[in-house]
Amino acid sequence: MNYPFWDVPHIGSGWVIGMIAIFHVMISHFAVGGGLYLVLAERKALREGRRDWMETLRGHSKFFLVLTGVFGAVSGVGIWFSIGLAHPEATSTLIHNFVFGWAIEWVFFLVELATAAVYYYTWGRVSDELHLKVGWLYAGASILTLVIINGILTFMLTPGEPWLQVAGTGHEASRFWQAFFNPTYWPSLFLRTVVCVALAGVWALVTCSRMDGERQPKVKAALIRWSARWLLPAFLLMPLLLGWYLWMVPESQRVLLQLGITTIGTGAFTQVTRVVLIIVMTSATIVGVVYFFAWRSPADFSTAHAVAVLFLALCATGSTEYARETLRKPYVIGRHMFSNGVRKADVARYNEQGYLTHHKLWVSATGNPVLAEGEAMFRGQCMNCHTRDVYRPIKTLLAGRNREGISNLLAMLHDYKPDSPYRAFMPPLVGTTNEIRALGDYLANLTGMLTNAPAAGAVVKK
Ligand code: HEC
Repeated sequence: MNYPFWDVPHIGSGWVIGMIAIFHVMISHFAVGGGLYLVLAERKALREGRRDWMETLRGHSKFFLVLTGVFGAVSGVGIWFSIGLAHPEATSTLIHNFVFGWAIEWVFFLVELATAAVYYYTWGRVSDELHLKVGWLYAGASILTLVIINGILTFMLTPGEPWLQVAGTGHEASRFWQAFFNPTYWPSLFLRTVVCVALAGVWALVTCSRMDGERQPKVKAALIRWSARWLLPAFLLMPLLLGWYLWMVPESQRVLLQLGITTIGTGAFTQVTRVVLIIVMTSATIVGVVYFFAWRSPADFSTAHAVAVLFLALCATGSTEYARETLRKPYVIGRHMFSNGVRKADVARYNEQGYLTHHKLWVSATGNPVLAEGEAMFRGQCMNCHTRDVYRPIKTLLAGRNREGISNLLAMLHDYKPDSPYRAFMPPLVGTTNEIRALGDYLANLTGMLTNAPAAGAVVKK
């Protein structure tokens, strides 16, 4: 508690994480699938005497090394950096619960980076057999990185009962394995694995599309078709795996995906409906492009086609990640910690002792102490999901409410009654009556609805 708040104007810190994460997901899943692609392609080429594949595979492994070793690693660090700033409390929970998990993860990262480099630099310099072994070592290590990170990622959505029972008692580590192999672990692992395989195909199409189709039509056709097949498992299994995954998510979270269809208030969650449409449309278009261009006329498959597929895959990945984030609302760690860092178990204590007594680090530039308190409440409790003016803009969302209307809304958020429509996606508002009044004044001031501003020297009792 008592961390400084990271105020990212207009887009909010969530989108900073989001943008880095979408980019990272595209590369990190390729790092897993692409390793398998390389060894299986090399093995096939060796077994079937296709020496003419080697030049392209060598080029692909260089591209692979640079993309995963540089951009994958840097964006991974970027995720740590941004989640540490945006969600310090949750990041700390993840670190403390999974110390051993993180340690072993980094061992595999090191093996991964080292073997990817050795694999690239030893083409033609060591025996085929040894080279292939290095490739297998890479593929194995990279799969293990997924096996581990998947436990921690799924934990955030569904920590599971055994862990929740001890959460906050200091005995969390005793439930390491239950938390790790939580309810969504297996469906998510399979889902991510088919995504890895598909992305291996997508990125391989990019490399292979650059081959000269006139000079070596046969080799290009064979490689393009072989790469296109890597997309097949994803399209056959994805709907099934997605169904399994959603089935393991608690009902209370699943309804979030339907909100757009049933409660379309002004803008409320229609994004989710749009997101689902984007996923379906991009996936269908990818199937079309791959079938008609890569499969039917592989020798003419151009880099423009490949980049189009890559772009569509990026849209699908982005939408899926967005939907996954939405599913978790209003929590950052399911049923344990809300997105604004407030633990469910601390709600009563904050209401009694005051929220700001525990979050005192920030000093406002506003001269008015009441508005400054309100602003501190807003930053600490609302701005993880809202910005003042652009993304989920509080100014627009509050438009039309006068000071009393704002009070009513805050009362609903604070009371958090079981039938409150806001419960599904917003955490309870915590704090004392005075703190909540200060927040109301601040919000009314923001929207220009504050007619009689609290006097500049007003003393607020705690
Ligand atoms: C966990 C994320 C989250 C947090 C934290 C959060 N909200 Fe929201 N809020 C949402 C979402 C999602 C919506 C729906 C957005 C939309 O309609 O586009 C929303 C909608 C709203 C609306 C519009 C509701 C309506 O009936 O029109 C208001 C007002 C609002 N939030 C105020 C607040 C205030 C004040 C706080 C801080 C005390 C807060 N929110 C904290 C996620 C959050």
